[in-house]
Amino acid sequence: MEWHLVCCVLACTLVSTQVYGQEQEKIVLSLPDASGQPGKNLTLDVAQLAKIVLPSPHETRVIGGHVTTNTKLGGYLTALLYEDDFVCGGTLLNENIVLTAAHCFLGRMKASEWIVAAGISNLNQKGIRRHVKDFILSEQFREDDMNMDVAVVLLKTPLKAKNIGTLSLCSVTLKPGAELVVSGWGMTAPRGRGPHNLLRTVTVPIIHKKNCRAAYQPTAKITDSMICAAVLGRKDACTFDSGGPLVFKKQVCGIVSFGIGCASSRYPGVYTDVMYVKPFIEKSIKALLAKR
Ligand code: ARG
Repeated sequence: MEWHLVCCVLACTLVSTQVYGQEQEKIVLSLPDASGQPGKNLTLDVAQLAKIVLPSPHETRVIGGHVTTNTKLGGYLTALLYEDDFVCGGTLLNENIVLTAAHCFLGRMKASEWIVAAGISNLNQKGIRRHVKDFILSEQFREDDMNMDVAVVLLKTPLKAKNIGTLSLCSVTLKPGAELVVSGWGMTAPRGRGPHNLLRTVTVPIIHKKNCRAAYQPTAKITDSMICAAVLGRKDACTFDSGGPLVFKKQVCGIVSFGIGCASSRYPGVYTDVMYVKPFIEKSIKALLAKR
């Protein structure tokens, strides 16, 4: 526990060292001995430490993907804005319904503040916008471990236009190694600042659940509602890609949910398993459409 704390403080020190541009070379820590009295000094080499705590230069590259356009993808990707700020990606399932992640709504529960923008590739574009009428988060969504990170959104008015497409819900159980496409306006470096204006896409293979569980052990629990995908150390989704689809043959099979770091060499990206949460999605679509 204390070791974690020390790591945390060191990581923060490193980041702030970078942020404030002070080129510190050594950090001297004064460690208390067992009785709590000042003990010996520990001198840490910042460059050495950075190699351990910070992502490798490899990882700070674009997270393995390339710039694309929404039309090229199939026009199914939407940007979800709250109080005019971009928050998450989403998938158009039909002209009235968008699929996204439940965690996008944490602290953002007012339906009237949400807007869905479709047909955009650059976040500066206005695209075709719709207000949100209502949304349903899974009752089993747990903030502490991201179990059942899924939400279904009902648009105020139907969204249909040239270049706008939809995806169907996953109907295949994905095997490890299956290659899927994830896209979004997420960060292209693990410690980037915010979303990117340009849409990016990357192909990532499904990672064996057993391996994913083991990798995240004991930090995070990989529950039944999750699947993992990434090329470790090279290709992954990242912050602000959340809610966007992991696509297999025009089907949405995953929803970007979480990860420790991005394109980490240890931790794969974690997605909501659409096959697993399909009953919830179908039930919610019915309930929302009945409300119109
Ligand atoms: N939770 C992030 C978001 O809100 C998604 C992070 C995905 N991370 C990853 N390494 N695949 O945008």
